[in-house]
Amino acid sequence: EKGTYPHYMLKEIDEQPLVMRKIIQKYQDDQGKLSMDPAIVDAVNAADRLYIVACGTSYHAGLVGKQFIEKWAKKPVEVHVASEFSYNMPILSEKPLFIFISQSGETADSRAVLVQIKELGYQALTITNVPGSTLSREANHTLLLHAGPEIAVASTKAYTAQLGVLAILAAVTAEARGIDLSFDIVKEMGIVANAMEVLCDQKEEMEYIAREYLSTTRNCFFIGRSVDYYVGLEGALKLKEISYIQAEGFAGGELKHGTIALIENGTPVIALATQEHVNLSIRGNVKEVAARGANPCIIALKGLEEEDDRFVLPAVHEELTPLASVIPLQLISYYAALHRGCDVDKPRNLAKSVTVE
Ligand code: M6R
Repeated sequence: EKGTYPHYMLKEIDEQPLVMRKIIQKYQDDQGKLSMDPAIVDAVNAADRLYIVACGTSYHAGLVGKQFIEKWAKKPVEVHVASEFSYNMPILSEKPLFIFISQSGETADSRAVLVQIKELGYQALTITNVPGSTLSREANHTLLLHAGPEIAVASTKAYTAQLGVLAILAAVTAEARGIDLSFDIVKEMGIVANAMEVLCDQKEEMEYIAREYLSTTRNCFFIGRSVDYYVGLEGALKLKEISYIQAEGFAGGELKHGTIALIENGTPVIALATQEHVNLSIRGNVKEVAARGANPCIIALKGLEEEDDRFVLPAVHEELTPLASVIPLQLISYYAALHRGCDVDKPRNLAKSVTVE
């Protein structure tokens, strides 16, 4: 039940700190160390390449998960949109492991790929919020999100839960192969949960940003580099699906290859600046769009902020920033939809589970 909340989406956004703490707890052993079913750790470590298959928000989580797994566990990962997989089936490695990410566990496009790869004799792991769901039952292994039911069509807490579980999967499999992470993942995820709480308390500021940038606009761009690009894709999807504003996420460096032609006087450009190694470049991209009349809204990580930034995220470990930086984007979308009189929890033309291919 949504209780005193006006919408499920807002309630589910607010549940994110709790869900993150629950995930940490669920994947800890008696000594407080992260752990999971050894059969899953073995399956990942026995594979020579991981193939993540998903749709929509879950696909965006997969893009971030690829970074965790490749950087920490040193395992190559490909991420595929489920509906395209069978037309563009990649040349598979010798020992592939498929990872299906699906909040509902019922998405037909993802299931079609699962059926196909099982016929080929390959193993699958499903990361889902719904125990006993089709994708969970039909895969060899399951990792649960422990996010509680997600009712709003726009996925919020499932996305951050997917990132949390993927981070734990990367950390645990790295450890099992003797790779040292150089930071304390449990501690850093705890810091993320605290940062999420701080962000959820800044709703007024987000409502203000939504009003300022999005109340009358026809379109909006999200830009970022590296992992911020992936979070920008998710921010754009969220805004599109509930506010009906045309929104696109772009890699900062790709803008000048065409998209910059769309920038007009006043076009909102939401830029994420959470990564030190690309901070100068993304700020260069903001200057490029601002010079063409855009209305930039920079969201920066504490420590990287500059004078004109619109919002500063609390400090979290640089590789875990997507877990925090997506929250302002979720809230901005929520308020933009609200201001524009849209049905936040049940956007037009959409269903919670997409059970047709
Ligand atoms: O249940 P799934 O995670 O498989 O769903 C995949 C997409 O349909 C879903 O993430 C969709 O993109 C959401 N409405 C996004 O908010």
